[in-house]
Amino acid sequence: MYDIEKIRKDFPILSGEINGKPNTFLDSAASAQKPKAVIDKMMQIYSNEYSNVHRGSYFLSEEITSEYEKSRSIVRKFLNAHKDSEIVFTRNATEAINLVASTWGRKFLTKIDEVLISEAEHHANLVPWQMLRDEIGFELKIFKINDDGSFNHDEYCKLLNGRTRLVAVTGMSNVLGTVFPLKQMIEDAHNVGAKVLVDGCQYVVHNQVDVQDLGCDFLVFSGHKTYGPTGIGVLYGRQELLEAMPPYQFGGDMVNVVTYQSTTFDVPPARFEAGTPAIVQAIGLGTALEYMMSLGMDNIHSHEAEITSYMRSRLQEIKGVTEVGTAENKGGVFAIDVDGIHPQDLAFVLDKEGVAVRVGHHCAAPLVRRMGYENLARASLGLYSDKTDVNRFIAALQKAQTFF
Ligand code: ALA
Repeated sequence: MYDIEKIRKDFPILSGEINGKPNTFLDSAASAQKPKAVIDKMMQIYSNEYSNVHRGSYFLSEEITSEYEKSRSIVRKFLNAHKDSEIVFTRNATEAINLVASTWGRKFLTKIDEVLISEAEHHANLVPWQMLRDEIGFELKIFKINDDGSFNHDEYCKLLNGRTRLVAVTGMSNVLGTVFPLKQMIEDAHNVGAKVLVDGCQYVVHNQVDVQDLGCDFLVFSGHKTYGPTGIGVLYGRQELLEAMPPYQFGGDMVNVVTYQSTTFDVPPARFEAGTPAIVQAIGLGTALEYMMSLGMDNIHSHEAEITSYMRSRLQEIKGVTEVGTAENKGGVFAIDVDGIHPQDLAFVLDKEGVAVRVGHHCAAPLVRRMGYENLARASLGLYSDKTDVNRFIAALQKAQTFF
């Protein structure tokens, strides 16, 4: 059973107050709060177990190296990857996408190729491909979504063809909440010979992921959205693809033999982890993923589905509120427009009520524009969100409507 009261107590920040009101945190899509298990683990490492990894032949270094590598195993289990060596630690999902663009992209894409992305991508999965297109000269194609934010299979298939070398696509929109049918999309892409990179930033937080079942070639996500620390992210890549990729950055721990004249490089994942990594963050991420798995991804998903549908029905009670993105297959992300209230003003009033939402273009400006807006307010749920959060948000929204 999913004991939401008990789960909320695992997150110390949630019992605090903001502006004298209960903390109603509805910005988990930007960055999620951390359970005590993660905070304690990181504190414990810094207090008692800290040293560098892969470099020392003394007790502390061997212990922390084994914790760091254990974390890689936890990520493998979380994604159901085949091997630990398919898991590369990066700074965040953005760096992981840049890594693929800079290495696989530079090596394998040519000017006669096409890269296909969707209208629903956030900047992290758009800008790196634009930059690479400008350098290499391939065509960057963008498939349309429906006006309600849902996936359009015909539009997707229309742009897939023998020249498509890569499909880089979000699993779940950070603005609209739309969940894409990844398995079908990956199969379609593979049928034309394209590789697929899944931007799992939002998807892996709310859905059970199995990269072997999905069949994706790459998948990226950020630690701070999966209830772990900032400064750590993950690139999953199929072993043979990682092996074929040149290094991304150069320095210590990614090399084999170094002379003044030349250098040979280590195998993946070490090849892509130059320099001292984010050791404690990687271990904290492992603890966060273990925490999610202990609750059960299916349980998290069902709980969030219930709160999502409650939020939707409460929003529908209020006049003058437009939910932007109403796809049937949608997770707990609510971009809204409120008649006569600028999103910034709305956020200001909500904040005074202790309710945190994000406003603006959500690092997905072209998507927000495509939906017909420049700015939107966005409330997003996490595994700790409950009906009380929704009720407080709705009450604060109604209060804002009386002011403007
Ligand atoms: N992409 C993050 C968000 O949706 C930062 O807020």
